[in-house]
Amino acid sequence: MKATWILPDGREIGLEVKPGLSLMEAAVAGNVPGIIGECGGTMSCATCHVYVADGWQEAAGAPSDFEEAMLDATDAPRLACSRLSCQLEMGPQIDGIVLRVPAV
Ligand code: FES
Repeated sequence: MKATWILPDGREIGLEVKPGLSLMEAAVAGNVPGIIGECGGTMSCATCHVYVADGWQEAAGAPSDFEEAMLDATDAPRLACSRLSCQLEMGPQIDGIVLRVPAV
């Protein structure tokens, strides 16, 4: 399965992502700049913040209440399409997803 990260400078990084892996884990393994994943996916750092690209927001689903609260603590501005990528698990529904990495 595949996911693509668009960096603030417009560069695109496309990676193969195994089903069940979070998009934070995939980004860290693939050295996507700007995705840190400091807390290891326990929703306590917000350093995995991404913007879900247009056309993918419905498939990505809505954040949980706790994720919502953490999204208010991100460095980059929070947008309606903001998600913590440690909470996005690769699967058939989001195969091919495109994420934008916020500029900080
Ligand atoms: Fe820390 Fe996602 S990795 S909140």
